Amino acid sequence: MDLLQPSKTEVDFTTGRLSRADYTIQRKLSDMAAMYADRDEAARILADEGDRLIYEVQGVELPEQEGQIPHCTTRILPGDVGGEFHMTKGHYHARREQGEVYFGLSGRGLLLLQTEAGATSEIEMVAGSAAYVPPFWAHRTVNIGAEDFVFFSVWEARAGHDYGTIERDGFRKLALRRDGEAAVVDNPRYG
Ligand SMILES: [Fe+2]
Repeated sequence: MDLLQPSKTEVDFTTGRLSRADYTIQRKLSDMAAMYADRDEAARILADEGDRLIYEVQGVELPEQEGQIPHCTTRILPGDVGGEFHMTKGHYHARREQGEVYFGLSGRGLLLLQTEAGATSEIEMVAGSAAYVPPFWAHRTVNIGAEDFVFFSVWEARAGHDYGTIERDGFRKLALRRDGEAAVVDNPRYG
């Protein structure tokens, strides 16, 4: 294994900006329009209002080797698509047996989790919430507040990302805006 030098990254809790980001990923509505339950509304927004930034990830990249601990911030912008809150794509880990820790930095969010066997869970996150994603649980985060929702993630380098399963099947639960609050409901189109 490579011997890396110890390092430090300053994190802006409000924006998620890293002083030393090896990469920045932007996910726009056009990248994930098919993931929203109301695809017609996603298409209407793209046609009438143009594309919009849904979330941004900044991270520290490390070799995909046992024991390496990559970490990143995610900033999800506030808003919804046909009442479904802005969210990340969500994923299983390619190596299902790898877990992850999320730490809330600012704003208000929901962490939606599910297993392939059918279990579901949701965890509310605010600044200071340390949420644990155990092995075998897919995870998606949702901004249910009026400000940016920003959190910090730490995982094992070999975990890998399986986005395809969620792109194909969706999530079992949706986080919708109902009377100004967040409601978690069954996804009628799951699977
Ligand atoms: Fe993950």
